[in-house]
Amino acid sequence: MAKLIAGNWKMNGLLGSGKDLAQALAKRIRSMETNAEIAVFPPGPLIPPILRAVSDTSIWVGGQDCHWNGAGAHTGDVSAQLLADLGCSGVIVGHSERRADHAETDGQVKGKAEAALAAGLKVIVCVGETEAERDAGQMETVVRTQIDGSLPSGGTVDTVIVAYEPVWAIGTGRTPYLDEIGVMHSLIRNRAAGLVLGEGLRILYGGSVKPTNAKEILRIPGVDGALVGGASLTADDFWGIIESCP
Ligand code: 13P
Repeated sequence: MAKLIAGNWKMNGLLGSGKDLAQALAKRIRSMETNAEIAVFPPGPLIPPILRAVSDTSIWVGGQDCHWNGAGAHTGDVSAQLLADLGCSGVIVGHSERRADHAETDGQVKGKAEAALAAGLKVIVCVGETEAERDAGQMETVVRTQIDGSLPSGGTVDTVIVAYEPVWAIGTGRTPYLDEIGVMHSLIRNRAAGLVLGEGLRILYGGSVKPTNAKEILRIPGVDGALVGGASLTADDFWGIIESCP
C-alpha cells in the first residue's frame, strides 16, 4: 500500500503563502513521479483556494478538526458535513494540540470521528503520550486508553487512519528511537483490531518528521506514512519527505 504523507499546516499560512505552497506541491506532483499518497490540511478558511490549487492532482485536502454535531449553535466550530461539501476528503481529529488547547476528551474525539464518517470523510485520529506520561512509564496505557476511547464505531480500514504522535516529539526536533516507534505502532494495531473493521489499518507516525529522518522512519515496519507539521510548510521539505518513501 502507498505511504500516506499528510501535511498538517496547523495555524500557519495566509491566503497568498498558502496558495503558493499548494501550487508548488501541485507543480511537483504533476512533473515528478511518487509512490506516495499526499494530503494537506490547511487552516479552515484556506480550504477552498487550496482545493482549487491542487484540483488537477491526486493531492487530497482535509480539515484539521470538526464538530461532533452535524449543525447548530456551536460558534467557531466547523461541521464535517461542511468540509465534505467544500470538497474535502478527510479530517484530522484529536490532535494533541486540540486535546490540550480545547480540553478535548476521548469521548468528544470519538464523536468527531463518527461525524466525519457520517459525512463521508476519511478520518485521521491522533493519539500519543506526553513526556510526563512517558517518563512515568505510562505511555502504553495512555495510548491504549486513547485508542479505546477515541476510535469511531463503524469505521473500516478504508475510512479510519490512526496517527501516533508522541506529544513531546511535536515541534521539538526529538523523536523516539526507531524501535520504539515500531513497538507503539504494533501496540496500536493490535488494540485497534477489534475497533476498526478489516485488515491493514494505516498508522502514521507524527512528531519532528523531516527530510533528514524521513527515510529511516518510513522504513520502520508498521509505519504507513507520516503526519508532518513544520516540515510541511515548505514545498522543498515536504517534497523531501515524500521522496523518502520507499
Ligand atoms: P511537527 O512535524 O512540527 O513536529 O508536527 C507534528 C504534528 O503535530 C503533525 O500533526
